[in-house]
Amino acid sequence: MWPDLIRKAKEGGLDAVETYVFWNAHEPVRRQYDFSGNLDLVRFLKTIRDEGLYAILRIGPYACAEWNYGGFPMWLHNMPGVSFRTKNDVFMNEMKNFTSLIVDMVKRERLFASQGGHIILAQIENEYGNVMKSYGEDGKSYINWCAQMADSLDIGVPWIMCQQAGAPKPMLETCNGWYCDQYKPKDPNTPKMWTENWTGWFKSWGGADPLRTAEDLAYSVARFFQKGGTLQNYYMYHGGTNFGRTSGGPYMTTTYDYNAPLDEYGNLNQPKWGHLKQLHDVLHSIEYTLTHGDVNTQKIDNFVTVTIYQTNDKSSCFLSNTNTTTDAKVNFGGINYFIPAWSISILPDCREEAYNTAKIYAQTSMMIKKSNKAEDEPDSLKWAWRPELIESASVHGKGDVSVNKIVDQKDMANDASDYLWYMTSVVLAKDDPMLNGIATLRVADTGHVLHAFVNGKYIGSQWAKYGKNVAYVFEKNIKLSPGKNLISLLSVTVGFKNYEAKFDLVGAGISSPVELVLNEGNQTFVKDLSSNKWTYKIGLDGISNKVFDTDCASKPSLKWVSDPVPINRNFTWYKTTFKAPLGNKPVVVDLVGLGKGMAWVNGHSLGRYWPSYIADEQLCKTKPCDYRGRYSDKKCLSKCGEPTQRWYHVPRSFLNDGENTLILFEEFGGNPSWVQFQTVEVGSVCVNAYEGKVVELSCHSRPISKIKFSSFGHPQGVCGSFKKSECESDVDAILIIEKECVGKESCSFKISEDKFGKAYCEAKRLAVEAVCEDFTF
Ligand code: GAL
Repeated sequence: MWPDLIRKAKEGGLDAVETYVFWNAHEPVRRQYDFSGNLDLVRFLKTIRDEGLYAILRIGPYACAEWNYGGFPMWLHNMPGVSFRTKNDVFMNEMKNFTSLIVDMVKRERLFASQGGHIILAQIENEYGNVMKSYGEDGKSYINWCAQMADSLDIGVPWIMCQQAGAPKPMLETCNGWYCDQYKPKDPNTPKMWTENWTGWFKSWGGADPLRTAEDLAYSVARFFQKGGTLQNYYMYHGGTNFGRTSGGPYMTTTYDYNAPLDEYGNLNQPKWGHLKQLHDVLHSIEYTLTHGDVNTQKIDNFVTVTIYQTNDKSSCFLSNTNTTTDAKVNFGGINYFIPAWSISILPDCREEAYNTAKIYAQTSMMIKKSNKAEDEPDSLKWAWRPELIESASVHGKGDVSVNKIVDQKDMANDASDYLWYMTSVVLAKDDPMLNGIATLRVADTGHVLHAFVNGKYIGSQWAKYGKNVAYVFEKNIKLSPGKNLISLLSVTVGFKNYEAKFDLVGAGISSPVELVLNEGNQTFVKDLSSNKWTYKIGLDGISNKVFDTDCASKPSLKWVSDPVPINRNFTWYKTTFKAPLGNKPVVVDLVGLGKGMAWVNGHSLGRYWPSYIADEQLCKTKPCDYRGRYSDKKCLSKCGEPTQRWYHVPRSFLNDGENTLILFEEFGGNPSWVQFQTVEVGSVCVNAYEGKVVELSCHSRPISKIKFSSFGHPQGVCGSFKKSECESDVDAILIIEKECVGKESCSFKISEDKFGKAYCEAKRLAVEAVCEDFTF
């Protein structure tokens, strides 16, 4: 997908692509490196170069990024004497080793701008300034060391440190956030740079869908350049999917769509992509004045300010209205301007408004999911199943290692799997008070999901509620017997923590104490099992035996049963085959009906799935979404009461022309009969724009088949639900647009009274909804 995504970024008006480098992906085992396939960093950088863009290389090697363990490999955590992100020889040695490896690799290919290449900046560490205090004096020594180490690598282009006020020289500090217009580097000679403009936000299981409006995102960018910004990067421009076990945590989703200008599948997220493209075009057109001009700012009223950039032969202006509710009508240089609340107009010649952040002319595209037309009956996927063989752990307590204590999952499993069995037994004499009534098993857990078994019987599961403390205590009544009682706890991680001071030390898995408790009259008997002999088993049988691997899955020794396929059975493998959807539209699999688990297509992991985790209703009970005022991840949430993630991306590169295999490991219990493969495409497109401009409607290589709505005046509502108001022109706008657009892949026209007739109101708009043709290949 790289060339296509990068081309869309270039077409969207970007100059550079910024990327992290994930240490745990490239050095999964100490000193064993992987730069193959999708991990081919040099190939990725060259693709950026070949598309004509610059690159910003954020080596870190700590990344954060909602990526598993922030990009740190777990073996590093398990090195004796290591302490992360501080003055610690073991850590610094490894960090230097990896950073130098990346720098050398890039230098060998002559990719730094100093070598004639396209990499203009490199980053060391990541937002250390946010957490430095917690590391005390050693933190200061560490960041100074980072600077010296990076500088010694002699890359010939500047190194940056984001969120690092007063970064040690010669590092340049930069800003991250939803807004950075107020930001001022400590050193006045450092250019004002913004490494992460958050285009939306990420999702966690149980969370709702974030939306950062195109108006507000454009506002933040224009305001940054109005206030002297020099470099601005979108985080994310394309977030994509965190396949496999790469999602961060705890509890972060597989999708990393981020509401970015290019969606998870690489489609244009319209109008965001188009509205920013127009902004980039205007900014590019005044680049010389911005970078060479004298700056002069004048207040026009309390909230309206004009900033003039002036060279000898040209001046360009930004007119901003920072009021969050009131639109402004101002006169500047003898001309009247209408500046909606929370918006900025750009006047390349200080006269004509070429762009306003709140006036959207780009089309809105409504994406739809269509069932797989390659299947005769799309609903009829035929399933086979097999049980996960849990008995050796749950019934027999068999494992790989035994220790007389409870060990953190990071230390024991070394991130080889999400799954770790903790098993112990307790022998009760006939007269043990624990047998006098109903005992309770109490397990302290630092997350993320626990399944408990006593004497081979499943007794229950638990995980943290969305937004609540990750650590919890599991308590369940159990039946104990005289003699040996086996307690088997299956602990499941859902992405290791990736942010905060000392996040690397945050616990995972079962913690102490694990107790048996019995209340009898006024007395409470407690048996603490924490220092018992605990036996551990890493991973699941099916995962170790690669049941998901297409070659192995068809091995005769692996029995798959066709009839009847159980539903709502936990620890169950499901398998089906399907034909790839025709055409080239992105493919998703709808996993509604399933609980939690992992999915593979032709042996490629689609990541963790958890459609039974429903977005909390309360999250959407906020004010209606308004682009005006500061954005935060609590604003403009939607899709509450629906699965946080129902659809899972199946890249076309995972698919074969003939038969494809989908394998699911269902951990909680679910019903696979609703599973469907679908394509994601544009269903309809809309414009809703002020008069005076040329607008375009495009169905992206499919014809426009019908005009559903069109009216000029004061049409109300949003794309999909436009309505006429009292002030509309009498001319039939549908007829006009039909003539202009139907049957074509795209059409453009000017919104004017000449064309659409008179409407007797101010600030007239044209709203159109056009349907894209639905055709089979
Ligand atoms: C920043 C961090 C990024 C990413 C972002 C939130 O603090 O540098 O890597 O995690 O937050 O999406």
